[in-house]
Amino acid sequence: MKLWGGRFTKETDKLVHAFNASVSFDQKFYKEDIEGSIAHVTMLAKQKIITEDEKEVIITGLKGILDDIVTGRLEIDGTYEDIHSFVEAHLTERTGEAGKKLHTGRSRNDQVALDMKLYTRKEILEIDGLLKNLLQSLLKIIKENTNTIMPGFTHLQKAQPVTLAHHAGAYFEMFKRDRSRLKDTLERMNYCPLGSGALAGTTYPLDREFTASQLGFKGASLNSMDSVSDRDYLIEFCSAMSIIMMHLSRFCEEITIWNSNEYQFIEIDDAYSTGSSIMPQKKNPDIAELVRGKTGRVYGTLVSLLTTMKGLSLAYNKDMQEDKELVFDAIDTTKSCILLFNGMVSTITFNKDKMRQSAEGGFTNATDAADYLVKHGVPFRDAHGIIGRLVLYCIDNNKTLGDLTLDEYKKISPVFEEDIYNAISMETCIEKRNTKGAPGPGAMEEVIKIYEKYLEED
Ligand code: ARG
Repeated sequence: MKLWGGRFTKETDKLVHAFNASVSFDQKFYKEDIEGSIAHVTMLAKQKIITEDEKEVIITGLKGILDDIVTGRLEIDGTYEDIHSFVEAHLTERTGEAGKKLHTGRSRNDQVALDMKLYTRKEILEIDGLLKNLLQSLLKIIKENTNTIMPGFTHLQKAQPVTLAHHAGAYFEMFKRDRSRLKDTLERMNYCPLGSGALAGTTYPLDREFTASQLGFKGASLNSMDSVSDRDYLIEFCSAMSIIMMHLSRFCEEITIWNSNEYQFIEIDDAYSTGSSIMPQKKNPDIAELVRGKTGRVYGTLVSLLTTMKGLSLAYNKDMQEDKELVFDAIDTTKSCILLFNGMVSTITFNKDKMRQSAEGGFTNATDAADYLVKHGVPFRDAHGIIGRLVLYCIDNNKTLGDLTLDEYKKISPVFEEDIYNAISMETCIEKRNTKGAPGPGAMEEVIKIYEKYLEED
C-alpha cells in the first residue's frame, strides 16, 4: 500500500520505487514510529479530533503491530516505501476505518523528523553509557598506576617522566568532554517536531505541547518549516561521534606503539589480539588498528551529511532521507569501537619495568637537573646551557645523567653537590610535580577524588 497515488495515472517504475524507498533502513526505528503514533492519537482524542473509541482501537492495533514485529510474527518487507507506510497499512488492515484516521494532522515530514529524534535520543544515551563504562576502566588503571613511571613524550621524543596514571588521566579528560558534548547535543535537540505537518503546521486544533510532553521533550518546536528540515542535531551528533573516534584513535595509536617490539610497554590480552597467516611469531594489535581505521569512516558521515545539507532550500527535501544510513552507520561503528576498545584496554598488561627503564633513558630528567641549579642560585637560562653541555658530554660518553660522577658534574659547574643524584631520580622528578593537573602523587590523588565523585553523580 502507498500513502499517495490518487493523482497518478501510472504505476511507479520498479527502479524508481527501489531508489526512492527507505524501508530497508528506516525500519530501524519502527518502535519509535509506533511510539510517536500512539502519542499523536492520544493527543487527537484529547482534542476531540478523533473519538476515544477510535483512539483505543488505533492504540490497540499499533501495540499489536509492535508486539508482532518484536516477536517476529510480522516481518517488515521491502514492498513498502517506508516504515511509516508499513505501519499505517497494517494498522488499516487490522482496524479498518479507525486506522485511516491515524495520519490526521500529520505529515511524513514531521513524522520522520520525530522518529529520527526519538531514535537519536536513545542512542545518545547508549553511547554515553558506553563511555561511562570506559571511564570506569580508565579510573581503575589510574588508581593502580599512580607510581608507575613512564616517559612522557612531545614530538614522540622522550620529554619528561610521567606516570601511567597521568597518561591514562589525559584520556579520562577527553572522554569526559565527549560525554558533555553528547549532553549538549541532547539539550539542544530535545524539542518535538510533531504537529509541524508537511511544513506549515495544520488547521486542526492540535495540542503540540501535550504531544511533546508525552514523548519526554522539553517542549514543542517553534517553527514548523525549521522543524521538518532541521538536521543540525544529527550533524552535531556525527561531530561528537567523530571526536570520540578521534580520541579512541589517538589511544589506539599509542597502544600500537607501546605493543611494538621496540617499546614492549604493554601486552595486549590474547583475546584481543590476532595472529599472522604466515609469520608464526606474530601477535598483532588488530583491534587497536581497526578502531583507528574506522575513525575515517565516522568522519565520512559528518562530511557527507554536511554536504548533503549544504544549500538545501526550505523546507523538506528528499535529500534529507540520506541522513539515516549515515547516522546509523556512525552510531553502530562508534558503539562497537567503544565497546571493543574498553575490552582491550581493561585487559592490557602493563610492563612496568620496561616503562620505567625507558623513562630513565633519553635524559627525561634534564629539566629537573636544570631546576636543581636554579634552586642553588644559577639563573635558569645559564642552568639550561650547563645541562645542555652535560647532556652532550653524556651522549659522547654513552652515559645517563645519573651515571656521571660528582667530579664530572663539578667540572662543568662547581654548584653541583652529592644531592644532585636524589634531585634527578625518577621518583623525585614525579614527586616534585604536584601542581594541579601534574603527575605528582599528591596532585593525582586530588584528581582521583574528583573523578570518583564525577562517576558517582553523572
Ligand atoms: N523516507 C523519508 C525520509 O526519510 C520520509 C519523509 C518522506 N516525505 C516526503 N515528503 N516524501 O526523509
